[in-house]
Amino acid sequence: MAMKITVIGLGYLGATHAVAMAKVGHQVIGIEPNQQKLESLSQGKAGFFEPGLDEALAEQIALGRIEFKAQHDESSREADIHFICVGTPQTPGSLAADTSYLESAIKGLAPYLREDALVAGKSTVPVGTAVRLTELLAEATGFSSPNLAWNPEFLREGTALEDSLRPDRLVVGVTNPRSEELLRAVFAPMIASGIPFLVTDLATAELVKAAANAFLATKISFINAMAEIAEVSGADASQLATAIGYDERIGNKFLRNGVGFGGGCLPKDIRALMARAEELGVGQSVAYLKEIDNINLRRRDRVIHLLTQELGSLKDKKVLILGAAFKPDSDDVRDSPALAIALLAQTAGANVVVHDPVALHGVSLKHPELPVEQALHKAFDSADAVVLATEWKEYRELDPTTVSVANKLIIDGRNVLDVAKWQRAGFRVLALGKTITN
Ligand code: UGA
Repeated sequence: MAMKITVIGLGYLGATHAVAMAKVGHQVIGIEPNQQKLESLSQGKAGFFEPGLDEALAEQIALGRIEFKAQHDESSREADIHFICVGTPQTPGSLAADTSYLESAIKGLAPYLREDALVAGKSTVPVGTAVRLTELLAEATGFSSPNLAWNPEFLREGTALEDSLRPDRLVVGVTNPRSEELLRAVFAPMIASGIPFLVTDLATAELVKAAANAFLATKISFINAMAEIAEVSGADASQLATAIGYDERIGNKFLRNGVGFGGGCLPKDIRALMARAEELGVGQSVAYLKEIDNINLRRRDRVIHLLTQELGSLKDKKVLILGAAFKPDSDDVRDSPALAIALLAQTAGANVVVHDPVALHGVSLKHPELPVEQALHKAFDSADAVVLATEWKEYRELDPTTVSVANKLIIDGRNVLDVAKWQRAGFRVLALGKTITN
C-alpha cells in the first residue's frame, strides 16, 4: 500500500532512495535546503552523474509521486516515515565523522513530526549515534519515546538505483514493534520479492554498515598488499586474485588490484570506525585499518615511483591522467586515486593533463590548478607518459594506434588494458601488481 514519506537530504543516497521509494509506489516529499540542488531536482535532474537516475526521477515527477521542498511544512506531518539521508563527511583535521547534518535534520523535522510516525536514519554513522539522536528528538518534540530506527543503505555509485530497488539485504535497527511494522510496510514489495529482511537493535544496524565497508576496504588493500609482493617477486597479482577467488570462502569480487579505493565512503568510513572504536576504548580492535589505509595510499606513490623510474625526472614532462572520477560510471571525484596521482605528479614538476568522460567539471571546481582536456585524442598529444587511473569503457576500448604520443609509455593502474594490443602498437605497458620485466 502506498505510504507518505519524506526523504531528508538529497545527495547520492537521498536522491536515489527518494526515486526508489516513488518507483515502488510511495508518495515522496524530498527535503533539500540547497537552492541550486532543489531547482535542479524539481526539473528532474539529480545534479550528479548516475546512470538511469535522471530518467527515473523525471518519470516519477511526471507521475506526481515525488516533489521537492527547501524545508518541511504542514504536509510533512502527514508522512508516516521520515528517512534521513544527509552526509556524514570526515571532520577536517580528525578521523571522525561529522554528524552535525544529522542533528540539523532532526531539529528541522521535530516541529512537523507526528508522535506515531517514524524517523529512519539511512546515513552511515558512528555506532551510538542513533541513541543520541533519539534523545535529541525527545527533547525537540517533547515525546517521551520517539520512534527512531536505523536502516543502513548499501548502494554503490554507478549502480545506485538498481542497488536500492534490489538490495542484497534490508537491515533495520529498531526499538519497538511499531517501527518494525512501518519499515516492513514501506519495503513490502521488496520483502515480497524475497530480499532478506533483518531486524536488529540500533547499534547492530549502525555497525553493519561500517563493518561492511571496512571489510570491502580490507579486501582491496589485501590484494594490493599482495601486489606489492608480486611487483618485487616476479608474480602477477591479477592471476593470484583469480586463483584465490575460486575458493568460495574467499570469492572473486573486490579483489581487483590497482591504484586502490577512493570515493566518499570507504576511505572516510574506515577512518570513522577507527575513531569511534578509540572513543569506545577498543581502538586496538580495528587498529589494523590504519594499515589498510596506508596500503591504499601507497598505491598512489607507486605510480609516481614508476613514472620517475621510467622518465627520470618528471620536471616538464607531459603526463596524461586517464580518469578523474573515483570509479567509472560516476562523476564523483571525492578522494579519487586518479586525482591524488595527478596532484602528486604535478608537485613533482610534471605538466599534468587530466581527462575524464564526465567528471571534469568537478575537477575544475575542486582543483582549478589541474589542467583538464575534454577531447580524448587531443589529451594524448605529445604525452611523455599516460596513466590509466579510472577504468572507463572509453579507455579500455581505445585503439592505441589512433593516439599520438611523444613517448609510448602507459601505466595501467587498473589492470584493464589488452596489454598485447598496446604492445603491438609500440607501447611499453607497465601494470600495477606485476614485475617489470621488459
Ligand atoms: C561503497 C560500497 O561498495 C557500498 O556498498 C556502500 O553502500 C557505499 O560505499 C557507501 O558507503 O555508501 P562506492 O563508494 O560507490 O560504494 O564504490 P565501490 O564500488 O565500493 O568502490 C570503491 C572504490 O574501490 C573505488 O575507487 C573502486 O575503484 C575501488 N575498488 C573496488 C578497487 O580498487 N578494487 C576492487 O576490487 C573494487
